[in-house]
Amino acid sequence: MNLNVVILAAGQGKRMHSNLPKVLHPIAGKALVRHVIDTARSLSPVRLCVVYGHGGDAVRAALPDADLRWALQAPQLGTGHAVQQALPQLAGDGTTLVLYGDVPLTRPETLRRLLKAAQDGLAVLTVELADPTGYGRIVRDGAGRVVRIVEQKDATAEEKAIREVNTGIMAIPTARLAGWLAALSNDNAQGEYYLTDVVAAAVAEGVPVNAAQPDGEWEVLGVNSKVQLAELERVQQRRIAQDLLEAGVRLADPARLDVRGELACGRDVAIDVNCVFEGRVELAEAVDVGPNCVLKNVRVGAGARIAAFSHLEDAVVGPDCVVGPYARLRPGAELGPEVHIGNFVEVKNSTIAAQSKANHLAYVGDAKVGERVNIGAGTITCNYDGANKHLTVIEDDAFIGSDTQLVAPVTVGRGATLGAGTTLTRDAPPETLTVSRAKQLSLPGWQRPVKKPKK
Ligand code: UD1
Ligand code: CA
Repeated sequence: MNLNVVILAAGQGKRMHSNLPKVLHPIAGKALVRHVIDTARSLSPVRLCVVYGHGGDAVRAALPDADLRWALQAPQLGTGHAVQQALPQLAGDGTTLVLYGDVPLTRPETLRRLLKAAQDGLAVLTVELADPTGYGRIVRDGAGRVVRIVEQKDATAEEKAIREVNTGIMAIPTARLAGWLAALSNDNAQGEYYLTDVVAAAVAEGVPVNAAQPDGEWEVLGVNSKVQLAELERVQQRRIAQDLLEAGVRLADPARLDVRGELACGRDVAIDVNCVFEGRVELAEAVDVGPNCVLKNVRVGAGARIAAFSHLEDAVVGPDCVVGPYARLRPGAELGPEVHIGNFVEVKNSTIAAQSKANHLAYVGDAKVGERVNIGAGTITCNYDGANKHLTVIEDDAFIGSDTQLVAPVTVGRGATLGAGTTLTRDAPPETLTVSRAKQLSLPGWQRPVKKPKK
């Protein structure tokens, strides 16, 4: 069966009070409309069309996907008019599924259920709400069959008492769609062309109308304000945490975890409170992440420990490393196995090989560090001359004394030792002590100045 999906995203979103188009606001790090597109794609539609509004160029620019078709709706004369704009883009037979760009969390299973209900006609996704105010109401006949949808503003007092509402998500036989849309009238309280009126048209023509329901109300909640955006963010985070727990991840508190992207975890991973994961993060078996860490596009090897308050971005951490507390791995940091990066150590665009250590207060930038290297406290690679970046090479088994400046480009040979306080401007030979330091003197008999007595 050919499936068309039409995503309505032309509405203004005034109540967001934002310059960003409503459907581009993120839930779990992903634009609302991107959630809808991903869900739609999982149903393998032959056509996927987004109806966007006047000034919605930002929406198009944010979604460069080759398989998307676009229909401009300007001016916006209602949901029926919106779907009409998409008609030329659709494959002529099969079913057309209408989704909203601001209803992000509908599960594919729910939509499959709706499509099944539409096999012999039209199907509407409905839900019973304790407070149905504002929604279109599902009107059924004595036999319980759906006969039409009435909008809040057009409803009688009796109809307003109906608690089953239209979620807006609908599956319609495509062959009938053009005719039904062309026949819509805007003679209603809002002067709009209502998509919901196709239900009565179907009933009039003897086309069966069915209803399907989502498992959870959250699946059909839309975003019209920052309040609703924040509420759905929590819903989504709770779902993500639940999935992680069910997969065996230990979360100190599922309510204090934020995943804004994809988090893949091996067995026996433990995550403490208030961690934020962005982009694609992979934690291998038995990784331990301490409280208050931020990891963005990071791969962490088995058995590694990321201690409290560490910030890692575009980095790779080898197995059995210890990073933090208070460590910063910036883009291009790659740690081999069993590397230790301690507090207030910053690593950028550098590889650090197995068992090397920088345990306190250091900056390692644009460096290639060998195995079993010890980088003392206060060591800094002077990688930037004000115009260009230069490479520092530290070979295996080198020992870098505390408070050393490595003025790049420079190489520290294998097994070399640099004395504390060295400012290295030329290569240090292997297996040798190199030190640049003023000779220490002590002046016997020297006296501290004393304060002059007040006159
Ligand atoms: C619509 C339904 C209502 C349902 C409710 C669920 C109609 C007539 N009413 O009401 O039965 O209970 O959704 O939230 O369909 N849009 C366009 N172009 C337009 C108008 C709307 O693209 O001209 C898009 C909006 O961006 C939004 C969606 O359609 O994503 C729904 O629009 P909205 O104004 O929220 O619909 P309601 O009037 O609330
Ligand atoms: Ca709405």
